[in-house]
Amino acid sequence: MAHTRWYKDRVFYQIWPRSFFDGNGDGFGDLIGVYEKLDYIQSLGCDGIWFSPLYPSPGADCGYDISDYMDIDALYGGMEAFKKVLDGAHERGMKVIMDLVVNHTSDEHEWFQKSRRRIAPYTDYYIWRPALPGGKLPNNWDSQFEGKAWQWDEVRQEYYLHLFAVKQPDLNMDNPLVREEVRKILRFWLEQGVDGFREDVITFISKKDGLPNDYLMPVVRGISHYNHGPRVHDYLREFQQELKDHDTFTIGEAPLVAPGLALDYIDEADGQLDTMIQFQCMGADCVLTDYLPLPFSLRRLKRAFGQWQTKLRGRAWNMLYLENHDHPRVISRYGSEKYRVESGKALACAYLFQQGTPFVYQGQEIGMTNWRPAKAIDYEDVQTRWHYENFLAGFLPDRLRLKWCHRSSRDSARTPMQWSAEENAGFTTGTPWFHVNENYRSINVADQENDPNSLLNFYREAIRLRKGLRVVREGSYVDHKPFSGSLYVYSREWQGEKLLVICSFVERPVKFEAPQGFEMIYGRLILSNYGSQLDGNGFITKPYECRVYHFGG
Ligand code: GLC
Repeated sequence: MAHTRWYKDRVFYQIWPRSFFDGNGDGFGDLIGVYEKLDYIQSLGCDGIWFSPLYPSPGADCGYDISDYMDIDALYGGMEAFKKVLDGAHERGMKVIMDLVVNHTSDEHEWFQKSRRRIAPYTDYYIWRPALPGGKLPNNWDSQFEGKAWQWDEVRQEYYLHLFAVKQPDLNMDNPLVREEVRKILRFWLEQGVDGFREDVITFISKKDGLPNDYLMPVVRGISHYNHGPRVHDYLREFQQELKDHDTFTIGEAPLVAPGLALDYIDEADGQLDTMIQFQCMGADCVLTDYLPLPFSLRRLKRAFGQWQTKLRGRAWNMLYLENHDHPRVISRYGSEKYRVESGKALACAYLFQQGTPFVYQGQEIGMTNWRPAKAIDYEDVQTRWHYENFLAGFLPDRLRLKWCHRSSRDSARTPMQWSAEENAGFTTGTPWFHVNENYRSINVADQENDPNSLLNFYREAIRLRKGLRVVREGSYVDHKPFSGSLYVYSREWQGEKLLVICSFVERPVKFEAPQGFEMIYGRLILSNYGSQLDGNGFITKPYECRVYHFGG
């Protein structure tokens, strides 16, 4: 079947289901809730949905620890509710993509339970190794979430590899039976009618032969031996076979990838995936992980944006995002909570007019900010808990550790969606499974629906504009001020049509002068956060001011 690359014209909305909307009052977001909010998602101009995992799961990593790949968790309403949502989305012309999490399973998955008992054919479904002399670990790799990457299993009397939580054993993708299981999962969901997959940490699936020690990467030791491993492209090509009769969209999540390497995966000439979730745009205020924070650098952000825009151009397609369930809220990081609405709008302009398929994460469109619990015990996330108890404990007093978590934790962005100023932010009529951010009375959908200048309505307008402008889909990209630490000024150009986007990332006034080739009097201001008109060929910015000018076309 033709691969039409329909995703190039769409804007996706990411649903992290347990915090989106509770339709049955049990305190847990579910698909009944999603069904009720399909019109809302459509009203944003989003015509695609990415669902974070909905499958049965013990919930050690909020669903990224799957115990059955071919079903929908009863908590979410089961398969019946899923079908209803899928049909409802399709009726509205929306596409639906699922999370495919096959680097690891839950330790409660039947495969693992049989593998640890050496029951055929599951014996080698996972990466098992005997202890080295003296009971030592098989190698020095770290897991991303919970200390060392090896866990001793009393039943099998061997270690198993877990690159994430202890309850997330890594599958042995070198085993052809495991790859066949992955193909079965793909077939199953395609038969249900889904339109594609977001493939979780897919660049980790092939580990280097012999699992050697890693001396290069102190914080994430091992990653140089399991990221972009030796057979990753072969395995992805095998999986791609299952997609050839379907017109799908596939996204690979890829930690530590730069555009050059990404092209090996996503070059339209011979790639195995359509686009990638790269992390460089999340690295403007940290190194390697959110837990190694740095002051925000606009230059770093622009360098990341620019590299991806220019290096993929004409060869591959960008996935554009500023938030997802793995990172703190972007206004709290790159913007300003004091100028929440203004900076939220500037951030929206900073990415929505680039080339690629944008993703909006639930709550981003209303400018939700980081959640800051008073006690560490309130954190739910396995990664946050580990960092609090171990990594940060070594060198920081309690108060600072907590502050660090506020800044770095994934839970900062996982609190329930703020629908209204009513109890529990209108998320549930029951007791919410997780804390609601206290600021819901001032930050919520209902209020913003009624305010023409709200961030929510700004997102709607920005998405509507981008969809109507060919230059956004096709145009070239130029960063006019790569060295400025306060302004992001980029232009797009396509067959005589031009777009100039100006975003201030600071509170103080900055003098902006139009770049050469942009006679501002010929430009039309199509979007801005202060509604200002032109003052000559430049202006002095207001706090976090943003403007989008359109020329010609
Ligand atoms: C990905 C997911 C993240 C999860 C991890 C392990 O990074 O986005 O939420 O914890 O993989 O599956």
